[in-house]
Amino acid sequence: MKSTKGRNVVVVGAQWGDEGKGKLVDWLSAQAQGVVRFQGGHNAGHTLVINGVKTALHLIPSGIMHPGVKCYIGNGVVLSAAKLFEEIEGLERADVEVRSRLRVSEGCPLILPFHAALDVAREAALERGGTEKIGTTGRGIGPAYEDKIARRALRVQDLKYPERFAAKLRTLLALHNHMLTTFLGSRDFEFGDALKPYMRDGEVLFEPVYAQAMRHAEQLRPMIADVSCELNEAHAHGANLLFEGAQGTLLDIDHGTYPYVTSSNCVAGNAAAGSGVGPGMLHYVLGIAKAYCTRVGGGPFPTELDWQTPGTPGYHMSTVGVEKGVTTGRSRRCGWFDAALLKRSAQVNGLNGLCITKLDVLDGLPQLSLCVGYLLDGERVDLLPVGADEIARCEPIYEQMPGWAESTVGVTRYESLPVNAQRYLERIAQVTDVPVAIVSTSPDREHTIVLHNPYAAAAD
Ligand code: IMP
Repeated sequence: MKSTKGRNVVVVGAQWGDEGKGKLVDWLSAQAQGVVRFQGGHNAGHTLVINGVKTALHLIPSGIMHPGVKCYIGNGVVLSAAKLFEEIEGLERADVEVRSRLRVSEGCPLILPFHAALDVAREAALERGGTEKIGTTGRGIGPAYEDKIARRALRVQDLKYPERFAAKLRTLLALHNHMLTTFLGSRDFEFGDALKPYMRDGEVLFEPVYAQAMRHAEQLRPMIADVSCELNEAHAHGANLLFEGAQGTLLDIDHGTYPYVTSSNCVAGNAAAGSGVGPGMLHYVLGIAKAYCTRVGGGPFPTELDWQTPGTPGYHMSTVGVEKGVTTGRSRRCGWFDAALLKRSAQVNGLNGLCITKLDVLDGLPQLSLCVGYLLDGERVDLLPVGADEIARCEPIYEQMPGWAESTVGVTRYESLPVNAQRYLERIAQVTDVPVAIVSTSPDREHTIVLHNPYAAAAD
């Protein structure tokens, strides 16, 4: 007998983030009744154009664009209530109803202004000390996760108890202001305009932080929920869920290019822990990878190209692919597709299928290089090693493949792709041992080639 329970798909970035997950989540949302964020915070981001209004979503799943779909922010997300309300108001200006469809876990640790202050002051201290910066988004993500792991975080549920909130806040401020002024030289540091209202003499002030949190508490109350329980109930009643990963596998705190990573687990397994469902509820894992590679921020990138010199393949990727970050506006570094990296990604996520995005960006390049392994200290390895030091010593081993001159923009049938594009995709599937399920040929929702539909596969 076939189960009447829902089928659930996890979408993860298989490289360093910015793989185009937003479009796929939007496309898959049409088959889901609930979309769940389970890690990260407002360091993620994708731009949407709604009814002619351009808006960037950093926290709210893009499933919100589908009427009737519920959106969940799971306990694994670090939540800036200020950013959340900025997004809600942006969506409401575009006539999208949010508040009745958004559920926020009471277990989310809060991101407060001192987290952002610590983040930017620390990056500046690394630079002053002559160490390569992590290149964080400066949003306070790392410091907020540190408070969580140290068991001192203020969580969404603390907003319900103003006195307890105030006491915990005072303790946190004492600790973090000491760090800011004594170790990070915050008295001589020029903080950005967004932080200035909360700071004096390099210290974060109690009053404005507390007053703002209490205002948010009032607005957030109707959306605070036991997300774990709601997801389990929705599943039992037949709802299909979509778990939307943020960042990418190589930015994962454990499996990424540590220490040049974000502070959460971005891999598929965290969809369970970060939302409060059992791993058996994750039926299909779709890894999203660009047809080439990009990364923002510091850290090793074995297949990186010169992406600043006109006429080079890297420049082609950067300009045709419009490789600029949505959250920070920084240019993304560009390089060849790395199948040995993707093999690692397939293993740590248990990928069932791949979605290759931005294939059209490679149109017109006469020759493509595909990384299939590395030389590491003189030995050949076929799998990306662990940690930044070894990865930095990897010299890519490339296979050369012919490119294609035809445009693939908007192609919706696999057979209509140029033969060399098909060969390129087939070689990627062969080296990584993961089938290509979907190919995206432009940002447009309709411009998608579907070889296996993840929801159909999840139901098998
Ligand atoms: P953090 O997440 O702000 O702490 O930044 C840590 C690293 O992750 C930096 O290299 C950031 O550029 C990178 N990062 C964080 N979020 C994203 C994202 O959504 N896309 C790509 N890179 C990201």
